[in-house]
Amino acid sequence: MEIIIQPTPEAASIIAARHVARLVRDKPNAVLGLATGSTPLVMYRELVRMHKEQGLDFSQVTTFNLDEYVGLPTEHPASYHAFMWDNFFSHINVQRERVHIPDGLASHIPAFCRKYEEAIGAAGGIDLQVLGIGGDGHIGFNEPSSSLASRTRIKTLTAETRRDNAQAFGSPDKVPFHVITMGVGTIMDARQVIILAFGSKKAEAIAAAVEGPITAMVPASILQMHPVAQCIIDEAAATKLKRIEYYRWVYDRKPDWQKV
Ligand code: PGA
Repeated sequence: MEIIIQPTPEAASIIAARHVARLVRDKPNAVLGLATGSTPLVMYRELVRMHKEQGLDFSQVTTFNLDEYVGLPTEHPASYHAFMWDNFFSHINVQRERVHIPDGLASHIPAFCRKYEEAIGAAGGIDLQVLGIGGDGHIGFNEPSSSLASRTRIKTLTAETRRDNAQAFGSPDKVPFHVITMGVGTIMDARQVIILAFGSKKAEAIAAAVEGPITAMVPASILQMHPVAQCIIDEAAATKLKRIEYYRWVYDRKPDWQKV
């Protein structure tokens, strides 16, 4: 895993956006795996800027989002459908029919999840998956003890995650207990993965994911097995890493041709 430590969330988000932009320029029909939450917001803002100011073209891009709450209609303001259209899709030229977000109102959830996996396969697989990380080490909504081989399915949120996500719902009691999420195995099938984390609340989870043992108790730790994974974080999220000077040393000596 490549560990990239930046002074601010903005600087880290710009690097992530440049990776996405490079892929979209090199492969206009790229398949992007996308995340919600506060973490990728600045990256989306930068991609919107690149679209508006530099003509970055999303017209042939296909997207698959990681997850959605069960029971929320798409128009619910806390739904991840609403989040993605408000913060990203409405501001770029993506085609609506190429956008995929799990359906929280699916009448038969296992059948929906199988179809979601099939759609990812039919699109050619995910070229680049963007991830945040939960304070408990989750990726997508794969909470601790999730199978590291799991596929898209229903999951039950931990009390911690329900508390962390309460703001959008006004109160922790209103956060759904269940979600549909891509599995850890689904995420690992992406050809490239970028995990972002900002702030001291993520420092323990990042240290466990990057330097701890690979364990289902920290689902993000499986990214140690991914051939093309980048962990792009700010200083605050890096504070619990033991080999922090080593990661800086490596990044400072990156060959120019590898830089974005
Ligand atoms: P956040 O959530 O970006 O809102 O911190 C990340 C996550 O739970 O994966």
